[in-house]
Amino acid sequence: MVKYQRYNLYNHWKKNKEHVVHDDEESYLRSICGNSGYCNKKPSPKLLYFTVLSLISCSLILAPQILSSNSNFSVFWLGSEPDGNGLCSSVPNGTICCDRSSMRSDICIMKGDVRTHSASSSIFLYRNNGVNDFVSAPSNDENDELEVIQHEKIKPYSRKWETSVMDTIDELNLKVKGKESSIHHRCDVQHNVTAVFFSTGGYTGNLYHEFNDGILPLYITSQHLNKKVVFVILEYHNWWIMKYGDILSQLSDFPAIDFSGDKRIHCFPEAIVGLRIHDELTVNSSLMEGNKTIRDFRELLNQAYWPRIRGLIQEEEGEAQLKTEKSALSPSSDNLIDTIKEKQESKRPKLVIVSRNGSRAINNEDLLVKMAEDIGFVVEVLRPQRTSELAKTYRVLNSSDVMIGVHGAAMTHFLFMKPGSVFIQVIPLGTDWAAETYYGEPAVKFGLRYIGYKILPKESSLYVDYDKYDPVLIDPQSVNDRGWEFTKKIYLDRQTVRLHLGRFRKRLLRVYYYSIAQKKKSLHRQSQ
Ligand SMILES: *[C@@H]1O[C@H](CO)[C@@H](O)[C@H](O)[C@H]1NC(C)=O
Ligand SMILES: *[C@@H]1O[C@H](CO)[C@@H](O)[C@H](O)[C@H]1NC(C)=O
Ligand SMILES: *[C@@H]1O[C@H](CO)[C@@H](O)[C@H](O)[C@H]1NC(C)=O
Ligand SMILES: *[C@@H]1O[C@H](CO)[C@@H](O)[C@H](O)[C@H]1NC(C)=O
Ligand SMILES: *[C@@H]1O[C@H](CO)[C@@H](O)[C@H](O)[C@H]1NC(C)=O
Ligand SMILES: *[C@@H]1O[C@H](CO)[C@@H](O)[C@H](O)[C@H]1NC(C)=O
Repeated sequence: MVKYQRYNLYNHWKKNKEHVVHDDEESYLRSICGNSGYCNKKPSPKLLYFTVLSLISCSLILAPQILSSNSNFSVFWLGSEPDGNGLCSSVPNGTICCDRSSMRSDICIMKGDVRTHSASSSIFLYRNNGVNDFVSAPSNDENDELEVIQHEKIKPYSRKWETSVMDTIDELNLKVKGKESSIHHRCDVQHNVTAVFFSTGGYTGNLYHEFNDGILPLYITSQHLNKKVVFVILEYHNWWIMKYGDILSQLSDFPAIDFSGDKRIHCFPEAIVGLRIHDELTVNSSLMEGNKTIRDFRELLNQAYWPRIRGLIQEEEGEAQLKTEKSALSPSSDNLIDTIKEKQESKRPKLVIVSRNGSRAINNEDLLVKMAEDIGFVVEVLRPQRTSELAKTYRVLNSSDVMIGVHGAAMTHFLFMKPGSVFIQVIPLGTDWAAETYYGEPAVKFGLRYIGYKILPKESSLYVDYDKYDPVLIDPQSVNDRGWEFTKKIYLDRQTVRLHLGRFRKRLLRVYYYSIAQKKKSLHRQSQ
């Protein structure tokens, strides 16, 4: 049993560790990994076994009576569900419960008189009664004049297995204290709803990580609170608040708090510290209250972006109106042609190419566009930047039938497609595992028709750089086995794609007929 578990976890760890990030910003990655090669180290199974033992722990204070002067009381158990929600499902008032059983993230729940103290990176939980007979340990910290009954540490970021990035995340101290007098412990702001604490540090800045490590876990952790929740953010960034404001306002009725920038003492009746995460870019409904799924998450996106999109549509209608009025004065057939064209286009399926330049670009993208148009698609090329407004991107993808892109962080945009539509991921040499794990499998769970287009060596720019029989071309797995730095240097950073148009066209034709059929179906539904 233990052996089986160890094997599984080892694989889980190893895989995720090796594919740290599919970042488009190399310097960013370097800044995290340094030149120490730390990111490339594989964990030894022995170390892992030890980690497993220490991870599967949950500290609970069951009753004041069973406490000794020892401030920590931990229960270890093996064989619990790695990603389950069960461990801290009911937490008594005045206690902290930490669920450290998941490989991906820790989460602690504090109930009662919760107060922030950002100067000491702490969150305190004060207890009223039954605890005053404890002898307090002397301490120099001004806020430690009361005895600490329980002390937990946690880094609220959901890549727990990746030490290199976790080292960059601020750690929080969670302390239960006996309350002799509340005079010293004023509340500057009294909140009446639960707080959720998390970090937007780490790999935030890369779309895949923003959704996978941040937004989706935030949804998983907080949606059941029906917006009655305050987000308290470590490593707070204004740009992140701006970029995700539409989504945040669907999850919370209150403004977010910058934990280290806001020195006031915020008081809460409950705190959830850390985020739950299920799997890559997904929501496992069997672990959610009310059986929520990734489709419910998409519904939330739709609601989040609708006000902005409606605004854009109104603006455009206003402009069109002006144009018509003008042309009514000086008649021209332009507008008529425009409307006819629009009508025809809405019948044709729409294909979006999520384009990269630099590494993993499609060198013959122009020809791909032309071919797709010849087949009958309306084609739009999107070049998402870090600063692109997500609502605008959502609008394009929500009205598309097909999305095509080369494996990379921007594939995260599949979450903006309508379930039932098609996603073609072009898979460069050496990226099979990551492409399927991070985007292919999640896209299928999401309800897309997914096609992984694995390129042939001849379609890779590496074909001219290496001998025909070089393992780089004919056995990428063996290159990947040598370590992450090889994968990154050879396959991710230096490879571009020249699609074999004949080969690609076969897929595209099938997709075209599928899309036409889908469109007919939905028109039929509408007319009923
Ligand atoms: C929990 O404890 C706090 C202070 O310790 C108290 O103010 C609050 O009323 C308690 N809540 C419940 C539900 O008992
Ligand atoms: C919480 O409720 C109290 C009492 O009803 C009120 O005074 C306070 O303003 C509320 N706090 C917030 C942040 O709404
Ligand atoms: C969802 O979680 C449960 C419990 O951990 C697990 O058994 C199941 O396989 C998961 N489902 C998917 C689709 O991953
Ligand atoms: C969630 O799904 C399970 C199994 O499909 C079902 O038994 C249960 O009633 C559902 N719960 C809710 C709240 O819909
Ligand atoms: C997305 O598309 C659907 C139907 O195609 C539409 O009903 C919905 O309003 C669109 N969402 C947004 C936010 O524009
Ligand atoms: C990619 O395109 C952007 C904007 O079009 C440009 O600023 C950038 O320099 C390009 N990068 C490369 C590597 O060509």
